[in-house]
Amino acid sequence: MISYRSVTKRFADGTVAVRDFSLEVPRGSLTVLAGSSGCGKTTLMRMVNRMVDPTSGQVLVDGEDVAGRNPVALRRRIGYVMQNSGLLPHRTVAQNIATVPRLNGMDRRAARRRTGEMMDLVGLDAQLADRYPAQLSGGQQQRVGVARGLAADPDILLMDEPFGAVDPLVRSELQRQLRQLHGQIGTTILFVTHDMDEALALGDQIVLLRTGAQVDQQGTPRQFVAEPANDFVRTFLGLDRGQRTLHRERAADGSVVVVDAHGRPAGVLAEPGDQPEDQPDAGPHPGATAEAGPRPGSQDAPTA
Ligand SMILES: Nc1ncnc2c1ncn2[C@@H]1O[C@H](COP(=O)(O)OP(=O)(O)O)[C@@H](O)[C@H]1O
Ligand SMILES: [Mg+2]
Repeated sequence: MISYRSVTKRFADGTVAVRDFSLEVPRGSLTVLAGSSGCGKTTLMRMVNRMVDPTSGQVLVDGEDVAGRNPVALRRRIGYVMQNSGLLPHRTVAQNIATVPRLNGMDRRAARRRTGEMMDLVGLDAQLADRYPAQLSGGQQQRVGVARGLAADPDILLMDEPFGAVDPLVRSELQRQLRQLHGQIGTTILFVTHDMDEALALGDQIVLLRTGAQVDQQGTPRQFVAEPANDFVRTFLGLDRGQRTLHRERAADGSVVVVDAHGRPAGVLAEPGDQPEDQPDAGPHPGATAEAGPRPGSQDAPTA
């Protein structure tokens, strides 16, 4: 659905942010571009909605080169969520969420209804609708940002470090919810982060980049943990510091949670029969397959 074909971006000052980058982002996937600051993630993401045009190469959406598309029309089909939510401070939560549907010609009443649905979808109390962004917590602001990004029912949602500024607890809740939401709506999501934990928790597919958007490894979270491609990946994953020493714990609700060396939950094991001896109801349960983090099998990851 999104195809990068040998894309290069050289900025006016000579900086080559992206060099000969190619990638297929499957329709309906949640693909994560991960890598350190400055490696070219934002530049790649902005090529999809033409906030940045490549110097050479092509970006295709549904087989069509975006270079031939009107940027305004293109952006109405592509949601965009930024790190600091990007909310308009002088507009209420409801007005912020309704922005693109209204631009697309939706009438006020329908937009209000849509706003309510979106707030429900991202877990925002309806009573917050008339507040201004400054009257919300960081986590709530990010939820509004996600609701706004999805309000026009876009084909693609671009998310650029959307949870970077919220505290870790809220952050994992937002990640869990995004995973669930993605399972529900099936929108193609391209997600950028410099945080490998986040990449592992969210991605169907992860693309780990270094300077110039050079791909170090591309694969599922399980492949990353089980078979890191090289020392850069190993270091980035924290495998060299033993931070990813995983073990299993049983949560109060009976599910098996994978926990890292710091006691942080890294995922939920969803595969039936993983621990057959004390898991009589090992059949699928709601949301189980949508859970992310190291996939079943990643407990075989190297330990330090
Ligand atoms: N408008 C610009 N002009 C010049 N250089 C830029 C511009 N935008 C980004 N860069 C440079 O391109 C590189 C990649 O930037 P960016 O895509 O923002 O990286 P990331 O999102 O991975 O942190 C960096 O070296 C950055 O300084
Ligand atoms: Mg960036």
